[in-house]
Amino acid sequence: MAGLPLHVALPDLATTCKLGQRLGELAAPGDIITLSGDLGAGKTTLTQAIGKGLAVPADHYITSPTFGLLHEYPGRLPLYHMDFYRLGGEEELLELGVEEYLEGEGLCVIEWPDRLGSLMPTERLQLELTVNGPTSREATLTAFGDRWRGRLTILAGEFS
Ligand SMILES: Nc1ncnc2c1ncn2[C@@H]1O[C@H](COP(=O)(O)OP(=O)(O)OP(=O)(O)O)[C@@H](O)[C@H]1O
Ligand SMILES: [Mg+2]
Repeated sequence: MAGLPLHVALPDLATTCKLGQRLGELAAPGDIITLSGDLGAGKTTLTQAIGKGLAVPADHYITSPTFGLLHEYPGRLPLYHMDFYRLGGEEELLELGVEEYLEGEGLCVIEWPDRLGSLMPTERLQLELTVNGPTSREATLTAFGDRWRGRLTILAGEFS
């Protein structure tokens, strides 16, 4: 079941980075964050900040996983960054072993999550980015399941 959405204004890149970093700091083993929004909305940029919050070493630079669909980075928790923009179909997800990552003890951050189809996890934080200016975005965060609910309250206090 989805909780009440939290809207966070991101007037500049620095605020997006601050939000991402807090998400990384608050992440717990087995968490899943889905990132939706148009091409260039800032999903990968946000993932880089999540990596910073997770203490992914700076020499592990988080890029768009154009080739391979999934990249893994070490940190306080393993970060599994997935980008399904170029996904062929659900059978490719199974070949990738995506279910093991989704059920694993790291943090999954998933761009273009709609491509997951029936594999979409019921417990997740859904984050949608809307572009409303050259450097301005709005993030809408919705907790599906209980795991993120309390942490959204914390974020609501920090980003209001
Ligand atoms: N407030 C902001 N938040 C996030 N990105 C911003 C912001 N302002 C400007 N940008 C810029 O917008 C671009 C976002 O690109 P990014 O690759 O993160 O998008 P994306 O959503 O991952 O795109 P794709 O769908 O192609 O993977 C970056 O160049 C970033 O610097
Ligand atoms: Mg991207």
